[in-house]
Amino acid sequence: MQTDVVVLAAGKGTRMHSKTAKVLHQLAGKPLVQHVLETAQTLNPRTLAVVIGYQGAEIQAALGATDGLAELVWVEQPQQLGTGHAVKLAKESLPDDGVTLVLYGDVPLISQATLSACEQAAKHGSVGLVVAEFSNPAQLGRIVRNDKGAITEIVEFKDATDEQRNIREINSGIIAAPTELMTRWLDRVQSNNVQQEYYLTDVIAMAVQDGVNVTPIVATSEVEVTGINDRVQLAELERSYQQALCNDLMLAGASFADSSRVDIRGKLIVGKDCFIDVNVVFEGDVELADDVSIGPGCVITNTRIGTGTQVLPNTIVEGAEVGSSCSLGPFARIRPGSVLESGVKVGNFVETKKAHLGKNAKASHLAYLGDADIGSEVNIGAGTVTCNYDGVNKHPTVIGDDAFIGTNSTLVAPLEIEKGAFVAAGSTLTKKVDANQLAVGRSRQRNIDGWSPPHKSRESK
Ligand code: UD1
Ligand code: CA
Repeated sequence: MQTDVVVLAAGKGTRMHSKTAKVLHQLAGKPLVQHVLETAQTLNPRTLAVVIGYQGAEIQAALGATDGLAELVWVEQPQQLGTGHAVKLAKESLPDDGVTLVLYGDVPLISQATLSACEQAAKHGSVGLVVAEFSNPAQLGRIVRNDKGAITEIVEFKDATDEQRNIREINSGIIAAPTELMTRWLDRVQSNNVQQEYYLTDVIAMAVQDGVNVTPIVATSEVEVTGINDRVQLAELERSYQQALCNDLMLAGASFADSSRVDIRGKLIVGKDCFIDVNVVFEGDVELADDVSIGPGCVITNTRIGTGTQVLPNTIVEGAEVGSSCSLGPFARIRPGSVLESGVKVGNFVETKKAHLGKNAKASHLAYLGDADIGSEVNIGAGTVTCNYDGVNKHPTVIGDDAFIGTNSTLVAPLEIEKGAFVAAGSTLTKKVDANQLAVGRSRQRNIDGWSPPHKSRESK
């Protein structure tokens, strides 16, 4: 039997007090609903449907631009009449010979294992319901059991009696059932409750009435079933999620100066004995080899860094390939397309973009290297600028191995400086320099005798 997944994401999220729909708020750099969809996708469902309403177009745009997501079926729910109503609408676009697994766009960290157990329960003809025991169940729906311990119904907090409100077992919202049964029950759901909504949760009592087994799937942690209703909950979940990511990395051999002051917004892979200082942000896919150290205040995005490389404080690295034993920063900016071979040094206030620096090349201070192919053992003096842009097009600069570029050189591209050439400090170069030549691109110094400095005129005194 095949699974069709329905993700509910039509609500506004009033308690967020935001211009942005709740499910588009970000956790670890990704919209809440995207976390849900990515996990759902690992089950290989036949259909992945998303119910949208409030800011539906924005949600479609955000998810449409996400790489690697399966094709989504969009279901519009113009009026948010409740979770039961949302699933009922979605089912009109789903086949009825499978099982329906309902996920909530605002419960982002649900795990694959829990979902898979829930799905299996439905495949065996029962209703799978993901539940958890919460120390502070707040306004969540409560799981009501009879004296034999069997689930009889879910009661929403607003409709619950005082006694029911004392129950600490909650409904995560995640439910799976054979689609045919789900359809039958949803047709019977009424809105005669405090919120005047069609509750999906009402199908539980109906299943019990019809003699269908309700299988509780107990979540493995509070985190995986925590729903986001306001920004305090979002901030708390962000921290616990970040801590869990750091814990995994520590167990894999990385050390953190303080694992509560690091953010991972994507996928970080670490080798052994990496050290990560405070206030570092990782974005996208980042891979650190063994013995890499990242100083405080760095932002590392979509980059691979080789063994033993040191990234000194406040360095920004994006879309780069960094070799082993390099030294970057402090205050360096390595932009997309930079390839730094082993032993390269890029020091403070140096910016590289689409620049290839060969083995042991050094740009220790204050330089801009863009669209440049720089050989091994090259020394780039402070203040060197590759003038790669003529106002319309970009042009390359090529510098051969062992060349020495003097301080404050202006390299007007396209330009080639061959192997072993030496560029005098303060040069502006527009012509090719051959191997081992000395290039002096400045007007000669003249020392003029008998010169008197300008005086301030009387009026401007
Ligand atoms: C729901 C459950 C509650 C559970 C809690 C878990 C119901 C009636 N209650 O309550 O038992 O403990 O989740 O987090 O199901 N949505 C729609 N269309 C609608 C209404 C909601 O798509 O008409 C979407 C929302 O965008 C949201 C999700 O469904 O992503 C849950 O809705 P929400 O209003 O947050 O339900 P809760 O009150 O949290
Ligand atoms: Ca909710």
